[in-house]
Amino acid sequence: MAPKEDQIAVDPDFYTLADDYQPDDFQSETTSLTSSIAKGRLENGRRYQAMKDNYWGPSDEQQFEAFEIGHLVFLVLDHNEPNPLFHSPIKEKPKHILDIGTGKGSWAVDVADLYPDATVRGVDIFPPPVTWMPRNCVFEVDDVLREWTWRDPFDFIHLRVMCGAFTDEGWDQVYRRAYDALEPGGWIEHMELDVRAFSDDGTLTEDKNLYSWGDIFIGCAKRAGQSLLTQETMRGAIEKAGFVDDRILKEAGQLQNAHWNTALEGWAMWLLTHHGAPKPWTREEVQVYLAKIREELRDPHIHAYELARRVWARKPTLEEQKAKEAKVKTEPAP
Ligand SMILES: C[S@@+](CC[C@H](N)C(=O)[O-])C[C@H]1O[C@@H](n2cnc3c(N)ncnc32)[C@H](O)[C@@H]1O
Repeated sequence: MAPKEDQIAVDPDFYTLADDYQPDDFQSETTSLTSSIAKGRLENGRRYQAMKDNYWGPSDEQQFEAFEIGHLVFLVLDHNEPNPLFHSPIKEKPKHILDIGTGKGSWAVDVADLYPDATVRGVDIFPPPVTWMPRNCVFEVDDVLREWTWRDPFDFIHLRVMCGAFTDEGWDQVYRRAYDALEPGGWIEHMELDVRAFSDDGTLTEDKNLYSWGDIFIGCAKRAGQSLLTQETMRGAIEKAGFVDDRILKEAGQLQNAHWNTALEGWAMWLLTHHGAPKPWTREEVQVYLAKIREELRDPHIHAYELARRVWARKPTLEEQKAKEAKVKTEPAP
């Protein structure tokens, strides 16, 4: 596809790496990603990132396609909103925006187009497969659990579908870092999916594979030491980090066939082959199971839906922070 006038070409072998990230096969801090990080690792016919060994999601063409479909689904879900990309009332002219776990980078690219004067950074443990992007968009390969080295404070930090990426302590750390890295008054916004499918009219009955689908993965992730119930815990964790004015929006959407069909194997393969119960499943067992799920997804008699939740919250202004500190000092010790 031809680039737009204000887009620049990206050499997919050349990304910015975090300052101090220098595994053995890297020559410098900003370096060619022809090494193991760009190649990832192959498992059960899928490509996974090679930076961490316990993240469930593949980073390959099929999953990037699923991210793109997901991005479109989220835009459609919010098509009545003044800004379907996010709900936070950020300032009119933001300078620095961060997208954590940017995936294919579609959100970061759209937001960079929306705010041509801002720098929009997308960070991920695998390089997004982009060839053209706006000049003001920067992709970086890094693990956000490592020390953050961005110098300019952000006006807005965004996360979407990061469930199962961190332990509860990891989440606390990420939100705390986001708090520290934001300007006073800056915003955080996190959107998550519930991995379970529901139906209100009883058409998703207990005998269906889709009925227990979500709980199977919640169990696998638990055995892997991560939680897939992020959408239930994120509001409390965001508040705990010190954010205020938090708002939550729960949305229910019909199971979207294209998104599920493309994403399905990627969601399932690593968790089931590593942490399936009563023992890890084989690749073939996973494929047989997915064939049954696909059949149920095609069944027009099952009216299943899934939940999405969005939390957005503000870092207090300097005055609010001072007022809070003063209150803590003047309160008598218990
Ligand atoms: C399910 S994808 C969602 C991608 C994107 N946010 C979207 O909504 O399309 C989650 C992304 O988080 C990335 N990720 C997982 N753990 C991470 C970490 N520790 N640091 C940075 N990115 C991470 C994964 O590589 C993956 O691309």
